[in-house]
Amino acid sequence: MAIQSIRDAKLKGLRVFVRVDFNVPLDEQGAVSDDTRIVAALPTIEALVAQGAKVVLASHLGRPKGTRNEAFSLKPVGGVLAERLGKPVSYLPDCVGPDVEAAVQALPEGGVALLENLRFYAGEEKNDPGFAKQLASLADAYVNDAFGTAHRAHASTVGVPALVDQRYAGFLVERELEFLGTKTTNPERPFVVILGGAKVSDKITVIDALLEKADAMLIGGAMAYTFALAEGKQVGASRVEEDKVDTARKAIAKAKSRGVQLLLPVDHRVASSVDFEHGSVEGLDVAEDAIPKGFLGVDIGPKTEALFAEAIATAKTVLWNGPMGIFEIEACAQGTFSIAKAVAESGALSIIGGGDSVKAIKKSGYADRVTFMSTGGGASLEFLEGKTLPGVEALASSRKAPLAEAIT
Ligand code: 3PG
Repeated sequence: MAIQSIRDAKLKGLRVFVRVDFNVPLDEQGAVSDDTRIVAALPTIEALVAQGAKVVLASHLGRPKGTRNEAFSLKPVGGVLAERLGKPVSYLPDCVGPDVEAAVQALPEGGVALLENLRFYAGEEKNDPGFAKQLASLADAYVNDAFGTAHRAHASTVGVPALVDQRYAGFLVERELEFLGTKTTNPERPFVVILGGAKVSDKITVIDALLEKADAMLIGGAMAYTFALAEGKQVGASRVEEDKVDTARKAIAKAKSRGVQLLLPVDHRVASSVDFEHGSVEGLDVAEDAIPKGFLGVDIGPKTEALFAEAIATAKTVLWNGPMGIFEIEACAQGTFSIAKAVAESGALSIIGGGDSVKAIKKSGYADRVTFMSTGGGASLEFLEGKTLPGVEALASSRKAPLAEAIT
């Protein structure tokens, strides 16, 4: 294996620069409203602390566009991290410069420091060599545990590891690569893929890549209405991408030619209007197959729930990415929650592919019954599309090694 794990590293007494993804949501008071990504990084941080490393955590938060903006400060994250870790975390009000270097140098073995938001400097997103050098001066060794940011070729994900000889994948990155990579490339079959979400254009590369691997593909969410249009069905006022109808048609043909069972909704929950601001809908009804004029699809219907649940129950491996309807609105969450239940009860190895699907499974109450929930949003999608993630590639000990070799 060309990527080294911190499992095998000897890091006692060394300053270990750990790129984490603490890009977490903050509420109106500026407090962390979802600590999933902080908790997911704990195993790596705890292992480094236990070894006696000097742990230097670096992350971005939001998109402050290269200038200091206290609304994007990592300070509140430091507080939550200290609580979850059960030990003090020194929050440093900057991420580069002599004061930061001195504070890092002064860390005791097993001590943890959290740098301020990397994106307060334009050099981070530009992968500026000078900025990368400043960050690398804080590091005797480099660990990437920021899977959610691995699709970005930034200074902290690509520039720094190129300047540090000892570089490792953290436990979180390892698990993401195992579940989104190995377990879906050589899945235990039947392998059932469930895809949802708003747009065919967001998911078409994933659909295409997974049609090569899946035994069955279930498609819900607003993107199913573009597929319905491709099949010549009435979609009423549903959200569709007219310019992607042909793409949907090609996916249907590909599934057929590869013998993949492609299941599309056979009925729909529809509404005459949706009020996103107040989280309500008007005229909620169920439409069999054709969606009448003046109505838009807001969720899969009960017959589709049963059809999808039946397919999921046969699976040995399930991968789910994207909700089945507007699950943020209670009246339109039933379809998504029924999929969550079916996945939880299937007994299959279940992988939830990031972003909205993770939010949905948490909201459904079934989160503790799935095998793996990805911490990535865009990164998970790009990885499932088969793309090389720059942050992962940067960890390869021989840069000439192809990624496929590097992660198997
Ligand atoms: C994410 O939340 O997807 C990652 O933290 C990356 O954030 P970005 O899209 O702002 O680069």
